[in-house]
Amino acid sequence: LKVGIVGTGYVGAVTGVCMAHIGHDVICCDVDPIKIKRFQACDSPIHEPSLNEYLQHELTRNKIQFTTDVNEIVNKSDIIFLCIGTPPKANGEVDMHYIDECLNDIVPRLKQTHCLVFKSTVPVGTAFKAKKLVKELCPNKNIYIGSNPEFLKEGAAVSDFLNPERIIIGVEDEITESLLRRVYEPLIRKGHPVLAMDHASAELAKYACNAMLATRISFINEIANICTSLGANVNQVRQALISDSRIGSKFLSPSLGYGGQCLPKDVQGLIFQASMHDLKLNLIEAVNSVNNSQKELLFHKYKDWSRNKQISKVSVWGTAFKAGTDDIRESGAMVLINNLLSCGLEVHAHDPVAFKNTQAYYSKNKRFYISHGNPLDTLAHSQALFICTEWELYRNTKLQNISKLLLSPSAVFDGRNLFNKDDFTKQLDIDYFGIGQQNKLQKTDMVSASLTI
Ligand code: UDX
Repeated sequence: LKVGIVGTGYVGAVTGVCMAHIGHDVICCDVDPIKIKRFQACDSPIHEPSLNEYLQHELTRNKIQFTTDVNEIVNKSDIIFLCIGTPPKANGEVDMHYIDECLNDIVPRLKQTHCLVFKSTVPVGTAFKAKKLVKELCPNKNIYIGSNPEFLKEGAAVSDFLNPERIIIGVEDEITESLLRRVYEPLIRKGHPVLAMDHASAELAKYACNAMLATRISFINEIANICTSLGANVNQVRQALISDSRIGSKFLSPSLGYGGQCLPKDVQGLIFQASMHDLKLNLIEAVNSVNNSQKELLFHKYKDWSRNKQISKVSVWGTAFKAGTDDIRESGAMVLINNLLSCGLEVHAHDPVAFKNTQAYYSKNKRFYISHGNPLDTLAHSQALFICTEWELYRNTKLQNISKLLLSPSAVFDGRNLFNKDDFTKQLDIDYFGIGQQNKLQKTDMVSASLTI
């Protein structure tokens, strides 16, 4: 099939390249000419493992093209996937103005028969509204509308596309359904199941899945906080949880909160959509507020520890919202760095991949430094080390080296539990604060606890 992709962010770029890889003739378009030139030169601006290799292969065999001209994508496609950003507004509402602009521009240009599919994460009801818009703008054309939400994790998007646990399609006519089944035929043939449903269910399914993932993360973070207060160890409690097959182990690792351009915005987007129908989502609102407090946790632990200490310099390892990506959006590290800078500290950060994005973000701040070489180089004259991203590079660092370089009194605030509290023996002379890895309750505390029971 001839497939058009509008928008070449990580979803559009990965979708385009992988659609070409499974056999389609693909044309991608974006409003940003610099991005398009980089794709054409096989120098993907999107940092995704193996994306450039696949891009190179598909460019070589002329299976994929890139353009800034919308007419070209209309004329060279049977079906067009909208992969345009739907960022959050300050109040959590989904900002649809990029989609609306695109629809008003592209719909009048569509061929007599064409298919338009929403791959972007869009509020429930978007496909329904698009059908009405199409009827108004071009009543005499046969324009078919579909929904096809993506479930691509940043840092694993190519593999997630080629090995989908399921392909969800929102279709309300046979033409659209058969067209989408043809697009995904090479994956269906390998046993990847298709779930066909109505538009609203497909649109909501995406929000529900992300809200579920966010719920698991806020749940384990809340359990970790109980462990800290009651002297339990979340690593042990987590073993008990994940050994129950009904619970499983995925998305149950304590952290400094979930970040990225999806989970936070989709949780807030769902809350907002419900509020438009006078529905209060108590549980999902709690997931969101637990996450917001979790992003402040390391800073609060630092403030308690550094009281009556003269600290001038601290180090932060990891600014990407998770390992495997250069994306810093909604990263817990950025919340922490903003707090540290706001209390006058000099911050020396490190990230092996996200350093450029971070440097651009803090380019005006004279007390902020970032490097991507040896993370130990950030520790000289520093008295606190914060670990925010679970890069293997940090996990493999010897504690003795950290201890030798940090200025005493010193502390490690481990937002990813890369280390264990027990590893920090006396001779290391470093205070350690993990997530949910606190001391056992002291004897006296145990007595008072038993007295109150
Ligand atoms: C997410 C969904 O996983 C994906 O299906 C959807 O299509 C897009 O949104 P992504 O945003 O790339 O993908 O990142 P994800 O891997 O989900 O992680 C989100 C955040 O949760 C990261 O900050 C990560 O560090 C954090 N996280 C994840 C935890 O804190 N604990 C966990 O156990 C797992």
